[in-house]
Amino acid sequence: MKRIILIGYMGAGKTTIGKALSKELGATFYDLDWYIESRMRKTVAQIFAERGEEGFRKMEHSMLHEVAEFENVIISCGGGTPCFFDNMDYLNQQGLTVYLKADPEVLYNHLLMGKVERPLIKGKSPEELITFIRQQLEKREPFYTKAKYTLDVSLMDNYEKIKISVDKI
Ligand code: S3P
Repeated sequence: MKRIILIGYMGAGKTTIGKALSKELGATFYDLDWYIESRMRKTVAQIFAERGEEGFRKMEHSMLHEVAEFENVIISCGGGTPCFFDNMDYLNQQGLTVYLKADPEVLYNHLLMGKVERPLIKGKSPEELITFIRQQLEKREPFYTKAKYTLDVSLMDNYEKIKISVDKI
């Protein structure tokens, strides 16, 4: 195993599951957002504010090419990563891509509880948020479903289930 690459919408649990998988498999965990933040010494929210989404996507694309060259790693991508440039095809070349698929309602609940500031959903009312998630998922699923493996995480609520999933992968 050189690389397992986790993709999926915001709130799907990419970071949580990625960390658990890395312990389980003895691989190093990389979260692409954290990597960008440490390289730029700025938060994703600051980068969005300063350069807009377009600036962030260019930076994300170039940093992805650094992270996805490392070996024996679990990589958690940002929710939008597979949907820009040729990122999804590149990810499929670089490793075992796993789409963490979740129902909009599950994503919504996780995002409401989330502590990370996410520029794309900041300031949205609950009604706006669920509509936004549904609309974005529809646009993004064609990219996400190009992953080599899909794991439905809607019902996943504890670590034991993550272990089972590891076996499946
Ligand atoms: C984004 C998801 C975020 C982060 C940025 C944009 C998206 O990552 O990359 O805020 O477009 O879905 P997470 O999926 O880890 O929250």
